[in-house]
Amino acid sequence: MKKPLDECTFVIFGATGNLARIKLMPALYHLDEAGLLPDHMKILRVGRREDNREEWLDELRTDISDKARGGLNEAVFSAFISRVDYQQTNLNDAESFQALSDYLTQEHLSSNIAFYFSLPPFLYADVANQLGQTGLLNEDNGWRRIVVEKPFGSDLNSARDLQQQFDKHLVENQIYRIDHYLGKETVQNLQVFRFANLLLEPLWNHNYIDHVQITHAETIGIESRGSYYDEAGALRDMIQSHLLQLLSLVAMEPPVSMKAEDLRDEKVKLLRSITPLTDETVVTDTFRAQYTAGKVGGEGATGYLQEEGIPDGSQTETYAALKLQINNWRWRHVPFYLRTGKRLAEKKSMIAICFRYPPKQFFKTVQFDDLKPNWLLIGIQPDENLRMEITVKKPGLEMETQVMSLNTCINNENKKDAYEGLLLDVIEGDHSLFLRSDEVEQSWKIVDPILRHWEKQKADVSSSITTYRAGSWGPKDAQKLFKKEGQDWRFSLHPDQAEE
Ligand SMILES: NC(=O)c1ccc[n+]([C@@H]2O[C@H](COP(=O)([O-])OP(=O)(O)OC[C@H]3O[C@@H](n4cnc5c(N)ncnc54)[C@H](OP(=O)(O)O)[C@@H]3O)[C@@H](O)[C@H]2O)c1
Repeated sequence: MKKPLDECTFVIFGATGNLARIKLMPALYHLDEAGLLPDHMKILRVGRREDNREEWLDELRTDISDKARGGLNEAVFSAFISRVDYQQTNLNDAESFQALSDYLTQEHLSSNIAFYFSLPPFLYADVANQLGQTGLLNEDNGWRRIVVEKPFGSDLNSARDLQQQFDKHLVENQIYRIDHYLGKETVQNLQVFRFANLLLEPLWNHNYIDHVQITHAETIGIESRGSYYDEAGALRDMIQSHLLQLLSLVAMEPPVSMKAEDLRDEKVKLLRSITPLTDETVVTDTFRAQYTAGKVGGEGATGYLQEEGIPDGSQTETYAALKLQINNWRWRHVPFYLRTGKRLAEKKSMIAICFRYPPKQFFKTVQFDDLKPNWLLIGIQPDENLRMEITVKKPGLEMETQVMSLNTCINNENKKDAYEGLLLDVIEGDHSLFLRSDEVEQSWKIVDPILRHWEKQKADVSSSITTYRAGSWGPKDAQKLFKKEGQDWRFSLHPDQAEE
């Protein structure tokens, strides 16, 4: 049986921001509704503005109603809001933090405190310093935890600098680096799927798997995040974090146990096995591009350069693709293809595992024109499913084949948001789904050589970034990453659905 949760106070910095409104508060509400929050847990919203509780309540009611499964429950809502308070705090001001400390150390409040940094990343170090100097990170009387959102740094050096700032006031097990992808049901299912089904293990290696593709495709553009996105680009925004995490879960060795440190040890080991890209392989094994105007879902979509907040002539990539090799016993010579893009044809995150071709000699006496390899497809969003494609005979007198699939569809009703599980993990003190500092550092080591090379390309006025039409599946030239004839990106969970 699980031990009961510690009482605590959950502090949200940046409570007036988008993440706090659309994700954190609805997630906490749902946890409360499910009876999963500690009975006396308080939630303290922290922001720089003055707060009007009536206006906030209207806003919260709308935000939660938009998300509430089965509609907003008035009794739960009323109990939930009685947990919540607000404290105006100037993040640059020591006195303001002293007032925050006075509030949080009141006798009737628990001395266990989680601080969620739902803030622009440039504020992380300052806020940790202020909390540290006020004594709020001292664990003498109870636990103190911080939760930080990605991005953790913007390259290897800045990630190390930020870590050094944290090290002044925190030890590793006080830090929860969130990658909300890891909270998704299918991503967690990946571990169960791999390690609870013996039939896969003998096949899960270079003897049977030809290559692996990991895709995160979005139909949306950059929305109101223009200035952030133009600095970051697709490689930093998606590949350094989410896609490398998925890769490590697909490819890591079985951990000694599912305990957080065992799991994270294996992920780091896998990331360390990835062959670093060189100036030569960045040219052959990576691809970057930017969307131009087009149509997404029948609606007109502007080009990246016409989006608000994007400087003229920006060379920032909105599409990034790369091929990585894992230099270990299991995966030698099995390429892993990673791809992400904005304004693509479909919203889709999936892992597609392509098995080797069967030995065709077996069918020598029969004409098999289109014998296909088996694929195993793991849909992450919007469809959460597992799909195994197998070749069978078409009914009839001819010896013809067709692809059929074995499908498991993960129940989408009452779908929990990834943040619900992750917030509960913070309160429980479970680090399994959070990134350790060496994991973050290792991911930056993989991405850094690409960033450096691309920065040079951006600075070269004689070169310009490849473009793709909004609503397409990205630039055709990204196919160049595949060396084998007939190989290409897998566009859909369905075998016959090709690129439009
Ligand atoms: N939104 C998402 O879905 C999402 C997803 C993944 C990761 N993230 C990460 O989560 C963090 C928060 O994102 P967000 O979308 O909520 O950002 P946001 O809407 O811009 O909100 C950020 C919060 O920080 C406050 N803030 C901004 N600059 C400040 C300053 N100089 N001093 C004090 N407070 C300041 C804002 O206060 P005001 O309201 O007063 O401006 C707001 O409360 C970011 O690190 C982001 O990268 C967000």
